[in-house]
Amino acid sequence: MSRETILILDFGSQYTQLIARRVRELKVFSQIAPFNISLKEIKTINPKGIILSGGPASVYDKGAPHPHKEIFKLGVPILGICYGLQVIAYQLGGKVKRGARREYGHTPLNLTNTNDLFKGLPKKITCWMSHGDCLGRLPVGFKAIARSKNSRFASIFNTKKKIFGVQFHPEVAHTPLGKNILSNFLFRVCRCQGDWQYSAFVKEAIEKIRSQVKDQEVICALSGGVDSSVLAVILNRAIGMQVKCIFVDNGLLRKDEAKKVKETFTDNFNLDIDFVDARKIFLEKLKNVTDPEAKRKIIGYEFINVFTREAKKFKNALFLAQGTLYPDVIESVSAFGGPSARIKTHHNVGGLPENLKLKLIEPLRELFKDEVREIAKVLALPEHIAGRHPFPGPGLAVRIIGEVTEERLDILREVDDIVVEEIKKAGEYQNIWQAFAVLLPIKSVGVMGDKRSYENVVAIRCVTSLDGMTADWAKVPYKLLGLISNRIINEVRGVNRVVYDISSKPPATIEWE
Ligand code: XMP
Repeated sequence: MSRETILILDFGSQYTQLIARRVRELKVFSQIAPFNISLKEIKTINPKGIILSGGPASVYDKGAPHPHKEIFKLGVPILGICYGLQVIAYQLGGKVKRGARREYGHTPLNLTNTNDLFKGLPKKITCWMSHGDCLGRLPVGFKAIARSKNSRFASIFNTKKKIFGVQFHPEVAHTPLGKNILSNFLFRVCRCQGDWQYSAFVKEAIEKIRSQVKDQEVICALSGGVDSSVLAVILNRAIGMQVKCIFVDNGLLRKDEAKKVKETFTDNFNLDIDFVDARKIFLEKLKNVTDPEAKRKIIGYEFINVFTREAKKFKNALFLAQGTLYPDVIESVSAFGGPSARIKTHHNVGGLPENLKLKLIEPLRELFKDEVREIAKVLALPEHIAGRHPFPGPGLAVRIIGEVTEERLDILREVDDIVVEEIKKAGEYQNIWQAFAVLLPIKSVGVMGDKRSYENVVAIRCVTSLDGMTADWAKVPYKLLGLISNRIINEVRGVNRVVYDISSKPPATIEWE
């Protein structure tokens, strides 16, 4: 039996992920696909409904993203949001025109038909608009069901075909009754059951892994982060000892990381883990390297080398499991002005499958980070793993500005440990997306006892974020910052000054390198 799925076609909106979240919050599984997914693939997914996301283009733009026209003939209910509504109108013979005025922000809306999509809603609601173009003429068979000051066709529908469009964004919190609208679409229009849970996701993932892997072996790169931990435990539940985890200690990890991973996963979860001590190799390769991109490339390259060598020991392995998440997968940008510029070379385990000639297993690729955290709880992973902050693949190397040496790594490890410990103690850890320290390549003058000191400076970076794409510096209480600073200066030899980073992303990035 296929699971009940709502398919979301992505036209490049910044809110596409949010639509997916909202649908899952309503206990219906949702999956995002590029706007030009083939009809064959859509039929395989067999969705109960399709949502067309918003997007930055204008339907008349050269190269503007358009879905296959045939999706309107599938008999599957469709909801177009913002650009999604315009694409419906455009493809079904209506007219889209440049709005006389852009509508942006909170907008009052008059609902002229409160059946179906707007069932149970008052006649006047507030919604969030963000569009330039609007509908000038309805396609044949459609009626308007809402209007705003600037657009007569703020929402449209064709009951016979079960096609709906809204010019506003029901998925954002600024549309207070937006969730009711999505709920009406799912349950009234698409007739979903709404019985999806994260535990169902785990169950299905396990079944799928079993039928795919059979009696072969799977290699899994375990880092101790939430994604790879969830992945390893799901695999372990599915195929027991047939999953061979490889943990590479590259020497760029946090204090006692390898020890903690061993305790958690070998002792509590009974995973078969191959611990590889590659500290020397990485340090050697990073000698005299100061350029951030060069560091990232070396670490990525060495990781693949070490991992490939280890993996070859497992002669029966046919598969490689990766904890790829949805944000790693999105490629939809290409239709809207080319792939985004490379800001940093992200080192995950890219490059491995080709090298190892293994088939990929990626059970988490439709999920977002906080959903993986939910799944971690379903799997009974301890809170210190489930709620763990992200940690970059190149580790502390991108938090040591300048050359990475053993001595500097030791300093940063101690500092980092104090930062995390105090933030946890203060109950702030879960309110923060990431909290860490950066070791700067400068020294400053201080006074310790009666003596002049000339020591290192560390920066503390705490940010709040939803997905790491944008971030704000966290307004951590001064008292806590003071405590952290005192402890670092008193306890870590070689540091005499602590500063707090108050830059947001953009224009700064979260990591310093
Ligand atoms: P930036 O520094 O680009 O980071 O604002 C965004 C998020 O990504 C994490 N990050 C990485 N994660 N491999 C990873 O798996 C990497 O190479 C990498 N570089 C940065 C960063 O910690 C933040 O959460």
